[in-house]
Amino acid sequence: MDFVLTNARMVSLQANKAGYDVSPPQNITVINGKISAISHLLPENNSLKVINCADKLLTPGLIDCHTHLIFAGSRANEFEMRLNGVPYQEIAKQGGGILSTVQATRSATEQELIELALPRLDGLIRSGVTSVEIKSGYGLTLDDEIKMLKAAKALESYRSIKVSTTLLAAHAIPPEYAGRADDYIDYVCNVIIPAVAEQKLACSVDVFCESIGFTLEQTERVFKSAQQFGLKIKGHTEQLSNLGGSALTARYHGVSVDHIEYLDIEGVKAIAQSGTVATLLPGAFYFLREQQLPPIKALREYDVPMALATDMNPGTSPFADLTMMMNMGCTLFGLTPEEALRGVTCHAAKAIGQSECRGQLREGFDADIAIWNIQSPAELSYQQGIPLLAARVVDGRFERISSESYFQ
Ligand code: NIG
Ligand code: FE
Repeated sequence: MDFVLTNARMVSLQANKAGYDVSPPQNITVINGKISAISHLLPENNSLKVINCADKLLTPGLIDCHTHLIFAGSRANEFEMRLNGVPYQEIAKQGGGILSTVQATRSATEQELIELALPRLDGLIRSGVTSVEIKSGYGLTLDDEIKMLKAAKALESYRSIKVSTTLLAAHAIPPEYAGRADDYIDYVCNVIIPAVAEQKLACSVDVFCESIGFTLEQTERVFKSAQQFGLKIKGHTEQLSNLGGSALTARYHGVSVDHIEYLDIEGVKAIAQSGTVATLLPGAFYFLREQQLPPIKALREYDVPMALATDMNPGTSPFADLTMMMNMGCTLFGLTPEEALRGVTCHAAKAIGQSECRGQLREGFDADIAIWNIQSPAELSYQQGIPLLAARVVDGRFERISSESYFQ
């Protein structure tokens, strides 16, 4: 349904306009799922439904550009093990970690995975999310990876949400390939990527390039195959050590490098040159009690766009709240609240290859809008645990969140 949002004070996050400042009240006309006009004047078509946004603040709908939302099982036991002194890497080497989630996810049906994911998705939605990227990576066979990607996409028919899917078959070496990582990479490149591309189940391909994941050579083989099938490239890089995965991702014109606590200056220069987004994941940094901070100063200096995401997953970031990540981005990584908001809107849009139509309040862009009960945008990074979202618009569909009669 088409409508006009009146008295809309907004932070538009347009690349070269309005900055972080709150605009004076304006009218946003939404037609056919797009923002058709932003103006001080009311549209001439006065048959449009009017929704009064007085006392609200509007931002682009938030984009969570890195999640592992689809999984079965729990890793609370490993959380306990870690606090009793066993490191994450050690748990992984003993066959726990990612592989314990693989076992549980393989045993679940597509429908079970959907049902397990809905409460997590609801958490993200309550924090203002209108677009979410979801990775596979807990299946590690063709059928199980496909099952995960289908479950991820199916969430769109249960909630008002836009899902971008990423194939992360190169997340861990499955038990049946133990000691044969190169053979598994052959299978990923020759079987999984072609089938997933053919069925159009993923927009991007990601690799966990790490000592407990895949080597640079193996990562490059996956990137080559992804490129051959026209899929976008992303990397889990420099999370626990500096292998050079980010520079490699940059060479393949990847859309984003994610985690990057151990990224060095050469890596920063490489991603600056390729226009690759640096996605920061403070939830995993916090939950693993890491000490190495991402190179924020250098990223600023080289003008690298920084995105911020939940990394929602059972092992390293069991948090389904994107405004909490804005708070952690500020408190743990020293981002400003403006950088945090750009990180979950315009820069996150770029990290999923959608910067032409999402992540800004701008004429012609998708009508994905978060409508908040706040006065200033810094409030999104500030208090936590208080429901701030009043309503949301996803592809032009208006949905009220707070039960109070805020809208006339
Ligand atoms: O982004 N680093 C690799 N993958 C995930 C963790 C997945 C897991 O532990 O289940 C991450 O942190
Ligand atoms: Fe991740």
